[in-house]
Amino acid sequence: MTIRRLPEATVNRIAAGEVVERPANVVKELTENAIDAGARQIDITIAEGGRALILVSDDGKGMSRDELSLAIERHATSKLADEDLFNITTLGFRGEALPSIGAVARMRIASRPPGAAEGWEIAVTGGTVTPPAPAALGKGTRIEVRDLFYATPARLKFLKSERAEQMAINETVKRLAMAHPEIGLSLSHNGRRNLDLPAEQGELFTARAARLAAIMGREFTDNSTPVNASRDGIALDGLAGLPTYHRGTAQMQFLFVNGRPVRDKLLTGAVRGAYQDFLARDRHPAVVLFLTLPPAEVDVNVHPAKAEVRFRDPGTIRGLIVGGLRHALAETGHRASTTIASAALGAMRAPGGLPPQRGYGAPVTSAAARAAAQA
Ligand SMILES: Nc1ncnc2c1ncn2[C@@H]1O[C@H](COP(=O)(O)OP(=O)(O)OP(=O)(O)O)[C@@H](O)[C@H]1O
Ligand SMILES: [Mg+2]
Repeated sequence: MTIRRLPEATVNRIAAGEVVERPANVVKELTENAIDAGARQIDITIAEGGRALILVSDDGKGMSRDELSLAIERHATSKLADEDLFNITTLGFRGEALPSIGAVARMRIASRPPGAAEGWEIAVTGGTVTPPAPAALGKGTRIEVRDLFYATPARLKFLKSERAEQMAINETVKRLAMAHPEIGLSLSHNGRRNLDLPAEQGELFTARAARLAAIMGREFTDNSTPVNASRDGIALDGLAGLPTYHRGTAQMQFLFVNGRPVRDKLLTGAVRGAYQDFLARDRHPAVVLFLTLPPAEVDVNVHPAKAEVRFRDPGTIRGLIVGGLRHALAETGHRASTTIASAALGAMRAPGGLPPQRGYGAPVTSAAARAAAQA
């Protein structure tokens, strides 16, 4: 056996296997890059479930000619200040997404920073780079990914139906849109507009309420109550579905950590724990929860697609979620068709929980409940 170093293109293709499993992962990486670039509007165009085309345009800070060349290099990132993996404030940090996508597809990146005299474009086809050339575009970045996985036919075979891939893309965009109401987002598939979300104005609570209503629908906002709790510098807010509004799956559970959509066992377990006295075992609540905590308290570098996180103090997080949700549900105890007396729920209130915030367009709790919460 001879040990040898693999060529760069092969290394990137191997990395791509972890970073991009399906078209929705590409959409996620490109949209997250646009969010990190400070975009106010992001437009996404898809053809054939993302297999034929994924096009993401933003009006963010763009890249110069030199930055373009660096952006497609492996482990090149503008985001990891001081190489500190415990102080991550952006969605990206590894410098892996673009080279990985370029290794398995035909990718073109055109970009122009605001105020720059001209734009530049670079192309990567199955890992082969074409040097930058001048490009005509307004400010921002436009990334086009065609023929995804053409360079890795085995991966192509694993793709699901066009419809299934499209649904996964919709889901990904919706999750990111929930966390960033200040950004306008559109998504078109095969020439049809699937999603058109205007940038929401006003302070975060108001903007988020409007965005959640637009994405989740009025039925959810009418059947949910605000959650608002904090402990030790960690804040929890969002909307908790009433126990009467349950589902057969956990599909209506959306969890975010510092603006990053996550699927985390600890968090879903805490949600289940909070609702266990209200719901049958096979029923699932609908929740949208945003956890905000100092970056040093959470490790996001544990999963190739950054979907999972690890908390420094899991006990506090669980306590905050269980307590915060129970407190919010207790406030609505008089409206929920549950057998638990609200007195019993009151006893489970979170220490340090804050009174509910207005502005979600959610049901207003009774004056008595609010007075009790403030007592
Ligand atoms: N839409 C964009 N607008 C401006 N700059 C961008 C955009 N997309 C990528 N970049 C630049 O290219 C770099 C590389 O992007 P890439 O997605 O590969 O890595 P990353 O976002 O730094 O980390 P990760 O691999 O975790 O996503 C970024 O750090 C950023 O500087
Ligand atoms: Mg990125």
